[in-house]
Amino acid sequence: VAERTLVLVKPDGVRRGLSGEILRRIEAKGYTLRAVQLKDATTELLAAHYAEHEGKPFYAPLVEFMMSGPVLAVVAEGQGVVPGFRSLAGATNPTDAAPGTIRGDLGRDWGTKVQQNLVHGSDSPESAAREIALWFPELG
Ligand code: CMP
Repeated sequence: VAERTLVLVKPDGVRRGLSGEILRRIEAKGYTLRAVQLKDATTELLAAHYAEHEGKPFYAPLVEFMMSGPVLAVVAEGQGVVPGFRSLAGATNPTDAAPGTIRGDLGRDWGTKVQQNLVHGSDSPESAAREIALWFPELG
């Protein structure tokens, strides 16, 4: 299979009506959408997805935020898509994210405990495989 990554349009992005704009940027870059599904994340799914952040001060608010509304889960495909989408997304903190990136153009600091930064993107091909199996068990 071609290289794949898991993208999540987080509840802030869905709420603000930015799902289409974010999908547009992924497609405009030349990546292929392999799966797109609106999901209500459960605590179990988020605990598995964010296992590496368990114990951090922002963990509980992060899980709460991720359950505050539906998440648009996306599998995007293409050579270099894992680092390529992280580059499209920009820095984790939207205040620092460069203009031209999703977070830099569309995000800001809302003064909340968790950085509401519109999107998640897998940080390595191994994370992508693990996360895609969690969000899209049917994809294999
Ligand atoms: P994400 O790529 O989904 O991975 C973990 C998330 O936690 C991250 O995006 C942010 O939404 C949030 N996050 C990461 N670091 C911090 C931090 N220092 N303070 C608050 N939220 C954070």
